[in-house]
Amino acid sequence: MFPWDHNAYYHRLLLRQLPEDCDRVLDVGCGSGMFAAKAAEHVTRVDALDRDLRMIDRARRRVPDNVTCTVADVLESPPSPDTYDAVVSVSALHHMDLADALPVLSDALRPGGVLAVIALPKTDLRREWPIELAATAAHHALGGFFLVRQSLGFRNPYATDPADDVMPVNLSPTLTTREVAETAAALLPGARVRRLLFWRYLLTWRKPG
Ligand SMILES: C[S@@+](CC[C@H](N)C(=O)[O-])C[C@H]1O[C@@H](n2cnc3c(N)ncnc32)[C@H](O)[C@@H]1O
Repeated sequence: MFPWDHNAYYHRLLLRQLPEDCDRVLDVGCGSGMFAAKAAEHVTRVDALDRDLRMIDRARRRVPDNVTCTVADVLESPPSPDTYDAVVSVSALHHMDLADALPVLSDALRPGGVLAVIALPKTDLRREWPIELAATAAHHALGGFFLVRQSLGFRNPYATDPADDVMPVNLSPTLTTREVAETAAALLPGARVRRLLFWRYLLTWRKPG
């Protein structure tokens, strides 16, 4: 079936999580910079980091001037504490140990700042079979819809980017949505985790203060 980009589909949802008066954003695991470029239209400055040099090279070609792209492993080189109004991440958190990553990402937020992450959960058919069925049906239905629109000359906003062919992916996440929620609740009291339709979860948390 016609492939389309589930990450791009959730960019608008992630943008809606940015706090009001959002000045500085950190995008962790930015890949080729697609979300960082969109965030940069709404905030003063975006710092985008990824541990893969090829991705950062591509991101640098894509993003506007108010985005700074850096090659860094966020766990080995933690960002400055109390710095960002929002820390965001798209499909990168499940590449890391969650219990190691959450303290690093939350430390980077200024008091009152928002953590907003979209990542992949491990399949949990026992609890999530209805949403898995719905996701499969909706994936094919929307894929067909985009294909028809494209054949009529409309742009597909969720087209996969051929430039992302070397993007590091992890299609075997280790934690279910429920396990992510339990870990997040223990480390970041008040964190919210909800399963999204297309094989992702959304984790949000506001730093007290
Ligand atoms: C599946 S890609 C997603 C890229 C991008 N956010 C997007 O939505 O297209 C995951 C990215 O996270 C990066 N990554 C994984 N672990 C990382 C870490 N510890 N520090 C920085 N980047 C990391 C990988 O190099 C990869 O580019």
